[in-house]
Amino acid sequence: MLYKYYNKNCFDWMDSQDSNSITAVVTDPPYGVREYTEGEIKKRRLGKGGIWRIPPSFDGHKRNALPRFSVINESPKERENVYNFFHEWGKKLYRILVPGGHIFIASTPLLSDIVSHAMREAQFERRGEIIRTVTTLRGGDRPKGAEDEFKELSIIPRGMWEPWELFRKPLSERTIAINLRKWHAGALRREHPNTPCGDLFTIGKTPKIERVIAPHPSIKPQQFLRKLVYASLPTGNGIILDPFAGSGSTLAAAEYHNLRSIGLEIDSEFYNMGKDAIPRLAQLYR
Ligand SMILES: C[S@@+](CC[C@H](N)C(=O)[O-])C[C@H]1O[C@@H](n2cnc3c(N)ncnc32)[C@H](O)[C@@H]1O
Repeated sequence: MLYKYYNKNCFDWMDSQDSNSITAVVTDPPYGVREYTEGEIKKRRLGKGGIWRIPPSFDGHKRNALPRFSVINESPKERENVYNFFHEWGKKLYRILVPGGHIFIASTPLLSDIVSHAMREAQFERRGEIIRTVTTLRGGDRPKGAEDEFKELSIIPRGMWEPWELFRKPLSERTIAINLRKWHAGALRREHPNTPCGDLFTIGKTPKIERVIAPHPSIKPQQFLRKLVYASLPTGNGIILDPFAGSGSTLAAAEYHNLRSIGLEIDSEFYNMGKDAIPRLAQLYR
């Protein structure tokens, strides 16, 4: 077992770590900050509204609740909260990440600009954006209360992709080669010698078998995470951190590749889910 998984607040945990002790980060944070606060999670568990809403059903299937990020996007105060959260987080991360360390952060097209701005201000270099094509149930709605009158309209595009922002801590050495030798960081590992890590992945919805093992509202597919964790450690040495580990899907992907990882999850229910799920997810599709 090469992973460590703790029921902790990542902000506190990062403060307790040595400088330059983490090699890469692959994480899926609470995009809008608010949806994973204690109060909102409680409402979701009770099935009582809040920021989580059930998308309209048009085919008789039961749907899972999704957070309404448009609520956040419409309020300057909420946008400021998102910026402050990621800026604070980025500054703490900067200290513990090695020079040249990469960070992959899942986001949403509605808020990724704010995350990116906050991370740049925390001194990280933006290195691109990875696109995961996935048809979500987000967006595509008709104007509320006038669905019949405006049945040919949708007020926002139906989400068909998910952006993962890519950042890097600036190198400390003169060249990437020297930085790689010293810190095992600075570049992305190739999937095969002739195939550089790409920025478009046609990997859709998380398969049912994984959602049954780990019924977390935001679980990401192993097939996709395995590619990211592999790319994140250029020499295969070092430690991958997932500060918002949820059910531990990133740690499971790292374990699959025999890579070392650390995950933090603040919510004890999700943490207990993860303790059981990680070894089972890591064993899938071998
Ligand atoms: C979007 S989910 C990640 C889910 C994950 N991708 C999975 O596959 O299970 C974000 C997670 O971060 C957790 N979280 C929120 N704030 C946190 C904090 N300060 N420290 C650690 N975990 C936190 C939430 O409880 C939630 O489980």
